[in-house]
Amino acid sequence: MLDPYKIREDFPILKRKINNHPLIYFDNAATTQKPRQVIGAIREFYEKYNANVHRGVHTLSQEASELYENAHEEVAKFINADGTEEIIFVRGTTEAINLVAYAWGLRNLKGEDEVLVTLMEHHSNIVPWELLSKINGFQVRYVDVNPDGTLNYEAFGNAISEKTRIVCMSHVSNVTGAINDVKKVAKMAHEYGALVLVDGAQSVPHLPVDVKDLDVDFFAFSGHKMLGPTGIGALYGKREILMEMEPFHGGGEMIRDVTFNTITRRCSISWNDLPWKFEAGTPNICGGVGLMAAVKYLRSIGMENVKEHEETLTEHAMHRTQECGKVKIYGPRDASVKCGIIPFNVDGLSSHDVALFLDGYGIMVRSGFHCAQPLHEVFKLKSSARVSFYIYNTREEIDRFVEVLKEIERI
Ligand SMILES: Cc1ncc(COP(=O)(O)O)c(C=O)c1O
Repeated sequence: MLDPYKIREDFPILKRKINNHPLIYFDNAATTQKPRQVIGAIREFYEKYNANVHRGVHTLSQEASELYENAHEEVAKFINADGTEEIIFVRGTTEAINLVAYAWGLRNLKGEDEVLVTLMEHHSNIVPWELLSKINGFQVRYVDVNPDGTLNYEAFGNAISEKTRIVCMSHVSNVTGAINDVKKVAKMAHEYGALVLVDGAQSVPHLPVDVKDLDVDFFAFSGHKMLGPTGIGALYGKREILMEMEPFHGGGEMIRDVTFNTITRRCSISWNDLPWKFEAGTPNICGGVGLMAAVKYLRSIGMENVKEHEETLTEHAMHRTQECGKVKIYGPRDASVKCGIIPFNVDGLSSHDVALFLDGYGIMVRSGFHCAQPLHEVFKLKSSARVSFYIYNTREEIDRFVEVLKEIERI
């Protein structure tokens, strides 16, 4: 079991007061706070190792390149990928999904083909497919969810067919925290010859993830939601699929040769090895270094412990909020089938009003659609407020939150 009080010592921001109250940070599904170890790694990179990667023979460039490559290696180990070749660094989950859409989908989807997307997806796993379908003319089909927002596997079974080319699903819903049975979906998808792309933005930070065991083809996640800096994330892809794919962006770093034929006056280009073929231009080197520090930090805690801690907090929050008669919670209530995310509303108030009131007491929660408007439409909600927990949150913070909710109800 992890000790959140000890962990809190590593997070300078948690010492802040907001509106004269101790900061309670419950917006972890949007982004997490950063420990000294991550901030220190970024600072150390700029103070000691800063140089461009893969371009110089000089010492600094060699050292920066080694750090950047080690970062790929650490991320690969963290999700049990088969080494750096399968880990492409990107800006985050959004860019990872766009990479798959444009580098794979643009060339492989057309006419009668179908892309299956669940109704619980974040907009970043909906909009790229809708955009691409306008270019290539394939169908985007939406898979229903149950009334509590969990995936409807029967509906999935009915929707999948020989026309399905790729299934795009989140591992964990960023609205309800519900954990999807990715392994089961991947097995069904593969029986139909379809690929599986998983949005792991809300799973990699919160539970142990093993991409080989899940047997998925692509897996996307963001560094900033797992203690790392913004602007860095990763796309895992099975090596044999990435080998077949053409690049996403063109430019420096991603090529092996660009030769110019003086007679035809054309260039012929060959691609670099994986994963660099997909990392055009100067990458976010210090972001990679920061992500490596975040991964090491999480590994030192143990992802089983992270999951267990969030489960305990979620159970406590579910139990305590029962004292608030005007608070309605959405999604599954059983903490063991979800991560530490709880969407809710207070009768008669907009989610923004609730979030503003809580902010007055130093409690940071999200309000709105959380970039998942279709799921809110299924729930027939205009919006929701959302608390989301992480390793540094405590039961006392939840107790304080419930006290303030009661204050809102009174007013
Ligand atoms: C489930 C899910 N997918 C995708 C994203 C997009 O992540 P990013 O903005 O880091 O690209 C988020 C972020 O909120 C998310 O929660």
